[in-house]
Amino acid sequence: MAKKRTIAGNWKMHGSKAHLKEFVTFMANNSALLHEQVDTILCPPFPYLDAAATLFKDVKGLKLGAQDVSAHQEGAFTGQVAASMLSEVGCQYVIVGHSERRQFNHENDELVAAKFIAAKAAGLTPILCVGETKEQRMSELTNSVVIGQLQALLAHGVAVFDNAMIAYEPIWAIGTGLTATPEQAQAVHRLLRETLAEYDATLAKSMPILYGGSVKATNAKGLFAMPDIDGALVGGASLSATEFLEIANAAI
Ligand code: PGA
Repeated sequence: MAKKRTIAGNWKMHGSKAHLKEFVTFMANNSALLHEQVDTILCPPFPYLDAAATLFKDVKGLKLGAQDVSAHQEGAFTGQVAASMLSEVGCQYVIVGHSERRQFNHENDELVAAKFIAAKAAGLTPILCVGETKEQRMSELTNSVVIGQLQALLAHGVAVFDNAMIAYEPIWAIGTGLTATPEQAQAVHRLLRETLAEYDATLAKSMPILYGGSVKATNAKGLFAMPDIDGALVGGASLSATEFLEIANAAI
């Protein structure tokens, strides 16, 4: 059987309750168009997760994710949200190490790894984001940067990647309209898979590796045609339910 595809939407700090309701209504009305070989995940901001979990019950195949999680289980950590809380409100997935968190919240590889492990401990599927800056790409550091980000987790043993996903998101392609070419993305996806295979060949083969960075309905098909691209992490375009559905359908 063909490997399942995953399309995850990251709303970042966008949206509203009304927008969420509209999005889910559209998806519910068009759920017959959602192919069973494609998993769709939506990651709205924290305050909407609880309502989203209820709304999603009407949409076959739409799953809930969060955009971040605390590395701590509980305690005096004002403003943070524990993995168990995400799980309690119905989240199944959580994005960790998004480049915007690495950049604006100064999250380093160590903290990202701790968040990833906390997510797993609560039964969530973490989506680990890796990716290089434009300067790093121009200095031919792409491979060492993404491998370094992966190694921060592999240091905890390859088993941490059971029930996890990786998203390759070149920072220069995020929100810029500049997508990596399918070949550029494929090269990094292949490298990530080969690196995992050095530890566990079976896991490497089954590991969903998503591409993120200005994915739209118009460029999705070319990316999904690549052998190591298993889906997409979609930012801006995921705010439109029509576009999100079109991207999901491009994955088949
Ligand atoms: P974008 O964002 O699709 O708006 O480029 C992707 C992401 O940051 O996950």
